Amino acid sequence: MKDDLRGKHILLGVTGSIAAYKSVLILRRLVQAGAQVTVVMTSSAQQFITPLTFQVLSRRPVYTSLFDSSEEIRHLTLAEQVDMILIAPATANIIGKIAHGIADDLLTTLVTAGPAPMVMAPAMDGEMWNHPVLQRNLSILNGLGVQIIPPEEGPLASGKEATGRLASEEKILAVVFDRLGRKADLKGETVLVTAGPTQEPIDPVRYLTNRSSGKMGYALARAAQWRGARVILVSGPTHLPCPAGVERILVRTAEEMRDAVLGHWAATTLLIMAAAVADYRPRHPAGRKIKKDGSDFFLELEPTPDILAELRAQRGSRILVGFAAETEDLDRQARTKLERKGLDMIVANDVTQEGAGFDLDTNIVTLIDAHGETVALPRLSKAETAERILDRIIELKSRSKAGDHPLR
Ligand SMILES: Cc1cc2nc3c(=O)[nH]c(=O)nc-3n(C[C@H](O)[C@H](O)[C@H](O)COP(=O)(O)O)c2cc1C
Repeated sequence: MKDDLRGKHILLGVTGSIAAYKSVLILRRLVQAGAQVTVVMTSSAQQFITPLTFQVLSRRPVYTSLFDSSEEIRHLTLAEQVDMILIAPATANIIGKIAHGIADDLLTTLVTAGPAPMVMAPAMDGEMWNHPVLQRNLSILNGLGVQIIPPEEGPLASGKEATGRLASEEKILAVVFDRLGRKADLKGETVLVTAGPTQEPIDPVRYLTNRSSGKMGYALARAAQWRGARVILVSGPTHLPCPAGVERILVRTAEEMRDAVLGHWAATTLLIMAAAVADYRPRHPAGRKIKKDGSDFFLELEPTPDILAELRAQRGSRILVGFAAETEDLDRQARTKLERKGLDMIVANDVTQEGAGFDLDTNIVTLIDAHGETVALPRLSKAETAERILDRIIELKSRSKAGDHPLR
């Protein structure tokens, strides 16, 4: 049963928001679903609600202090034991502290001390929610793999109508059930994901590149890691932090990306090429900075190595998934690429659509498999898009195993 949390240990962090009382309802639902829940409260949270309420409902001690007389080192033992850290409500303060590695109380210390996935449900005043500092801190956390359940619009404690209300209990519980109810359906797989742009040198200070941010590939790497795979992320230059538990190899050029992929090919069982690899590179990169002399300048380009074409010959039983970012005639272009590269599936992406493509946090993609079956996904966060791509790969794999819809 999906909503069964028996055997799961959740750490519920409660912080100093007016919405702190709602965490009592969340706690009750988690306990009803069979989870063992340990509540950790910040000192501000105790201004709003008492530990006793949580203690009675969780039937467990509630922890409020880093320094107590216990013999165990509480922040370490708790961090190691739990399957998930859920902070609901999460104040602007806790978001800022965790985004910057500040560990000055029990809750902020234990989140830095263990591998458990973290989910945060912020709640605050509308002005606070829209503040650029808060938004920057959220994007740092998002990049680190923390799942943020955005607040909702509605009447706030201040009396104003704005975005800032804690997400509904149902939404928060759905995320917990989804994350903890999920099977480790990629356990045993080694997933190699390429991400980001490449940079092809013109001279020591200039290069050719493209607008890829790497966000889609990083979301796939993170999602595959959550599902139990060993994940190797071969990344072009990006500003994104490496998701926890993922092995990252940083590269710059298409040639370096090819070498890194080939170097890990023997271990790979599933390849997802989400990188926007340059198709062309300068044929003769200059050894010194090219000087401006007033005359026209011509750059001679040559094709970069076609990584997929090389791998195709030695694919064995591996699954190959590619991406097509196009600006016109998406369906035809994507199908042509699928065939030409011998892919099992292509993720087609019209980068001119609003809400899709480079450097955004959302995407709109269509998944086309080798039999021509298509699944058009709506506009989703890149994290959710990544989950749906992996769901589809797993579905195709199991259909192939059953002999119904063979992969290549
Ligand atoms: C009545 C009241 C309500 C508050 N509600 C919120 C809130 O909803 N969200 C928030 O980010 N801060 C809120 N604050 C401010 C936090 O309590 C304050 O930033 C505190 O330092 C948070 O500490 P903590 O993150 O360690 O729990 C509120 C403060 C007061 C006095």
